[in-house]
Amino acid sequence: MLGVSEFRQMKRSGQAISMVTVYDAAFARMAEAAGIDMLLVGDSAANVMLGLDRTAAITMEAMCLFTNAVKRGAPNSYIVCDMPFGSDAEPKIAVQNAERLIEAGANAVKIEGLPLNSLKALREKEIDIIGHLGLLPQTAKSFKQVGKSEEEAEKIFAEAKILDSLLPCAIVLEHIPSELGKKISQAINTPTIGIGAGKETNGQVLVMHDILKMHPFKLPPFAKNFANFWEAGVNAFSDYKKWTSEK
Ligand code: KIV
Repeated sequence: MLGVSEFRQMKRSGQAISMVTVYDAAFARMAEAAGIDMLLVGDSAANVMLGLDRTAAITMEAMCLFTNAVKRGAPNSYIVCDMPFGSDAEPKIAVQNAERLIEAGANAVKIEGLPLNSLKALREKEIDIIGHLGLLPQTAKSFKQVGKSEEEAEKIFAEAKILDSLLPCAIVLEHIPSELGKKISQAINTPTIGIGAGKETNGQVLVMHDILKMHPFKLPPFAKNFANFWEAGVNAFSDYKKWTSEK
């Protein structure tokens, strides 16, 4: 199974890491067939699957359910699951919750920010972790780019160095300037996976609803469509509706 040393080796050999979010068996199966390196059961499920307005609203129960479905659809993939907001606040609780997500099918858990004691407790239990720095949707007041001022950039850089020393499998860098994404990627041994962090990170992650254009909403500035499932879906449902009225 993949782990910290394999992901570090991928970084050393210059192999790009692809990560996409998936939340159910059908799309997990599709991502596995495409050979995606890491499937992320993101807490963005709150928005794209449950129609909630903030990721912090998702529960452990929901994340376990989504992770379980993803595992059934993609039994051979490396699955990362977000720790929901608050589930990692205390070291003991963080370990219990991470163990539940692993039991549900995750290989590693992703944690936003730097709850140091919880991160250390997870590593002591040999639970694989993925860091998440830069814009932190669970607690962010706005969704603007972060790390633009020298002070903010230095803080994120220092956090990345601390996380690196805890041996995570990867660190997601969200919505930061490209130069900062590059600087962090060059300074640490852990592979970085960017979402709006430029092209010099060691991998990229996007939300599957943006990749496939599954909604009619405006994309975040760093996201990209690679298909138009919205149009295909509306057309297919319309054709089906016509077909139901045909005698
Ligand atoms: O939940 C999520 O989709 C994420 C990505 C933005 C990396 O954390």
